[in-house]
Amino acid sequence: MQLTKLLHVQKPIIQGAMAQISRPELVIAVSNAGGLGVLTTTGSTPESLQADLKTIRAATKQPFGVNLMLQQTNIDSLLPVLLADPVPVVFTSAGNPAPFLQSLINAGTKVISVIPNVKIAKKMAALGASAVVAEGAESGGHIGTENTMVLVPQVASAVDIPVIAAGGIGTSAGVKAAFALGAAGVQVGTAFLVAKETPIDPIYKQLVIKADDNGTVVTGTGGDRVRSLKTPLTTKLLVTTDSATFSQLSSGSLLRAIHGDVDHGSFMAGEIAGAMTKIRPAKEIIDDLNQGVPTIIED
Ligand SMILES: Cc1cc2nc3c(=O)[nH]c(=O)nc-3n(C[C@H](O)[C@H](O)[C@H](O)COP(=O)(O)O)c2cc1C
Repeated sequence: MQLTKLLHVQKPIIQGAMAQISRPELVIAVSNAGGLGVLTTTGSTPESLQADLKTIRAATKQPFGVNLMLQQTNIDSLLPVLLADPVPVVFTSAGNPAPFLQSLINAGTKVISVIPNVKIAKKMAALGASAVVAEGAESGGHIGTENTMVLVPQVASAVDIPVIAAGGIGTSAGVKAAFALGAAGVQVGTAFLVAKETPIDPIYKQLVIKADDNGTVVTGTGGDRVRSLKTPLTTKLLVTTDSATFSQLSSGSLLRAIHGDVDHGSFMAGEIAGAMTKIRPAKEIIDDLNQGVPTIIED
C-alpha cells in the first residue's frame, strides 16, 4: 500500500524520532510541509507529553507520530496518555512492543516498528504492525548491524506490509534508491539535524555541516552501538575497555551535545552528514528530498 495513503500524508517522507531533539517545533514544521513529523518522548512525563500533543495539535491539522523508544524507563507512564488521547501513529523502536501493541491499535492508532533485521520485521508484521522501518547501520543514533542497501530489499520481500527505508538517506537520489529497493517511503534523521526548526545548539548543526563522508564513528556494542560524529568523546570511548567508565562517559552525553558541549557531548549523526551543507527550513529539506519521487505508486 502507498505510504501516503496509509498515513494520510502528501509526501512519503518521515522525520525519524530523535531523542530529546524531535520536539514539537520540528514535528509541526515537518507535518505542515507534507511529511510526517515524529515526536520524541525521551525524558517526557505524562504531563509534558500531554502538553506537547496540545502544542502540536494547535499548530497543525496534519498527521504526526509519537516515538516510544523501548529502552526508555517511562513507557508505562506514557502509554495511558496515548490510549486516552490517541495519536495517528506510534513508532516503536529498540524493543518488543508486543505487550501493548494491540491496545494502541484498538485505540485507533497505527503502530509502525523500527527493525534492524528480517526476523524482527516478520515478528512485527505478525503482531499487527501497519508498516516497518528497516533501519540500516548508516543511521545516526542507536544502530543495528546490517546496512540499508542489503536490509531493505530483503525485508521488502519478507513481509506484506509497507517497508520504510532508513539509514543514509538525505538526498533525493537516496529517496529514489530506497523506492528502487522496494521501500514505500523513507525515514530521515540526520538531514533534519540541520533544519532551522531543530532545537539544538548551532554548534551541533555546524559540526554536522562540517562533517565529511568519513565524519562519523560507531562506539559501543549490542544495544549500546551508537553512530555519532567523531569528537573528543568518541576518541575516548573507542579506547575505553572498562564498562563503568564507558557508561559514565556516555550517560547524558546526547544532552550535552544538544547544549553544544564539543568536548563531552555525543553528537549523534549518520554517515549522510557528509552531504549536509547548510541550515534550511524543514520544508525546503522535504521538498528537495521529494524531488523526482513518483507521486503515484501502484499498490
Ligand atoms: C540524533 C539522533 C537521535 C535519534 N534518536 C532516536 C530515537 O530516540 N528513537 C528512534 O526510534 N530513532 C532515533 N534515531 C534514528 C532516527 O529516527 C532515524 O531512523 C535515523 O536517523 C535514520 O538514519 P539517518 O540518520 O541516516 O537519516 C535517532 C537519530 C539521530 C540522528
